[in-house]
Amino acid sequence: MTEAGVSALIGLGGNLGAVAERFAAAQAALGSLGRVRGRAPDFWSLPLGPEQPIFRNSALWLETKLPARQLLTALHKIESDQGRQRDLRWGPRTLDLDLLYYGDAISYDSNCRIPHPHVRERAFALGPAAVLAPEHRDPEAGRCLAALYQETRRDIMEALTSKAELRAFRKRCTGRLAFVPTMGALHEGHLSLVRQARELGDHVLVSIFVNPLQFGPQEDLARYPRDPEGDRRKLLELGVDGLFEIESPAMYGAHHETRIVQERLPRHLCGLSRSGHFEGVMTVVAKLLLLASPDVMLLGRKDFQQTVVLQRMITDLDFPVELHIAPTTREADGLALSSRNAYLSPEQRAQACCLSQALFAGERAFAAGETDPRALERLMAAELAQARELVVEYCTLVDPNTLDARSGAARAGDVALVAGRLGKTRLIDNRLLGAVADPRLPDPLAENP
Ligand code: PAF
Repeated sequence: MTEAGVSALIGLGGNLGAVAERFAAAQAALGSLGRVRGRAPDFWSLPLGPEQPIFRNSALWLETKLPARQLLTALHKIESDQGRQRDLRWGPRTLDLDLLYYGDAISYDSNCRIPHPHVRERAFALGPAAVLAPEHRDPEAGRCLAALYQETRRDIMEALTSKAELRAFRKRCTGRLAFVPTMGALHEGHLSLVRQARELGDHVLVSIFVNPLQFGPQEDLARYPRDPEGDRRKLLELGVDGLFEIESPAMYGAHHETRIVQERLPRHLCGLSRSGHFEGVMTVVAKLLLLASPDVMLLGRKDFQQTVVLQRMITDLDFPVELHIAPTTREADGLALSSRNAYLSPEQRAQACCLSQALFAGERAFAAGETDPRALERLMAAELAQARELVVEYCTLVDPNTLDARSGAARAGDVALVAGRLGKTRLIDNRLLGAVADPRLPDPLAENP
């Protein structure tokens, strides 16, 4: 024991109610038992028990003169003050406080086992403690926590809710960082990007931010689908390392007025009906790239114009990031996956596959020798006309680099794009024709179906 007392590492966990607030209350209560030297970032983890919300976890470093048994009793008191009930072994809990380490003490006392008997096998306990006190030595293993954590299965995900936390996460990443920006309501398309991110990076970061700057005043910002708990669970199951979730006031300061603009590309296609949309997308992605400094960013090719606009921004402004564009994920009938598909009524859903059918028809005609771009567009429009309620916004064949309507003969690598509204739901889709002209773009024939 030093002058200040013993360094105790305490694990915090909970999955019922306002857990973040309970962690703050526990930290305040622990402050009266000694000196709080620091608190680890929060992490998400999957519950060990069945059918319950995911857990929030952290760790706290306390220098205290209380003997270990008394400290443990004090932890139990704080738990019960925060509504903890100890009826189910793996049940949900408001607050769980575990004494993980008490200096370099080893105790086999069954009421106060030190180190905590499971700390080395549970990433949700070891991970936060290792981030907080990497040099702390586990007296049984004879190794520091950072080294032990290197060997643990990574089934926890850092909960990043501020720019400072995101920057600190980035600093701790020791290898290549792969980044998937999203607006949440994650579907299989997003998940396939995350799986590819795992292949491309040593660490995977996902962001969920419904960016108000990219929605027009008449658009669906207020009703955009949200499922934070479901999204976190899906990302945990895929082994994501960090999830950045932030709200608009924290992302854009009260006086934010800067926008990234482009001269030409946003004036085509979706930009014609969504004024300011791509400025909003570029601005938020630029901010995310500056905050996260990823080595590679992954985007889905379903938003083709977005990928072209962002590649242009990355090149023009020298962002040191590689852009990886992944093929569109589709339903069995060809409909491109989109968070907005959730808005469709069953009747609209049945009509929605006309978009992909039109593109496939265009592709087939091109493969059979049709190279007149206007003839290909007419053929696709005829397919779109099958969808009774669809109000077509565009149906066109463009140069993939300039997004200008193809003049002269259609060629391999040109992109066929369609957009339209079914009721209030705006849908878009695209396909590359034939073999690939630009090696950065994926082979359309490798897409399903
Ligand atoms: O494609 C999206 O989900 C968004 O436009 C993006 C890239 C996350 C920016 O908000």
